[in-house]
Amino acid sequence: MRLIIKETNKSAGQWAARYIVERILAHQAKTDKPFVLGLPTGSTPLSTYEELIALYKAGKVSFKNVITFNMDEYVGLPEEHPESYHSFMWNNFFNHVDIDPANVNILDGNADNPELECAGYEKRIRKAGGIDLFLGGVGENGHLAFNEPYTSVHSRTHVQTLTDDTVLVNSRFFDNDVNKVPKQAMSVGIATVLDAREVLILALGVKKAVAVKHCVEGCVTHVWPISNLQTHEKGILVCDELAVSELKVSTYRYFKDIERG
Ligand code: GLP
Repeated sequence: MRLIIKETNKSAGQWAARYIVERILAHQAKTDKPFVLGLPTGSTPLSTYEELIALYKAGKVSFKNVITFNMDEYVGLPEEHPESYHSFMWNNFFNHVDIDPANVNILDGNADNPELECAGYEKRIRKAGGIDLFLGGVGENGHLAFNEPYTSVHSRTHVQTLTDDTVLVNSRFFDNDVNKVPKQAMSVGIATVLDAREVLILALGVKKAVAVKHCVEGCVTHVWPISNLQTHEKGILVCDELAVSELKVSTYRYFKDIERG
């Protein structure tokens, strides 16, 4: 696993966005097949989306031949709700680049048959040829997408009941009212993420420092779903300085040394 430590939220986002663009361009140089990109929501990826939009506007990348699959969506929240992940993605990214709306895939949290929706999502990913690069964030309790602690490493897209602490953390987007936060979500599974050819996880801010410690220095355990990143052949964790504040000095120095430049 690679650990990239950048000074700030902004420089971490810039690193991630430039990496994604590099991968898209390398893919496009080899094949006409679309690049398949997995995407997250949350406050963490905002600086990455900003930089991706800037790179698009500067003519450095096009998303015309990119297919996207989002990680998760709340169950029962109308798509047009400002806090739905549909709204988030269009407002913060898709509306600002040249992506074909037909290439955007986001789970339907209002599907009549949620199990069918989840199974169909896995099929759509397979049909697209699998995910080339899955970008993700991490929850304070180590959740990956909405895979809460103790979710199986073999999990696939499923309906997930959110833990009380996740509901509390996410209530900041719902007028700080836990009663307004949906209690369930649909989420790709841990195996869905790990199946991607590359996985790039962002962790920014001091609130993520304990999860980062478990991910980098801990054992692989279902208690900290993010620790499964260790098992991926091409896993990258991109952090700002605050997010690595719980790491041992020797770990910090090691990664700063090998990732120099
Ligand atoms: C949500 C999302 C996750 C995200 C996490 C962290 O619960 N389902 O995919 O990684 O929160 O959010 P933030 O980036 O706002 O800290």
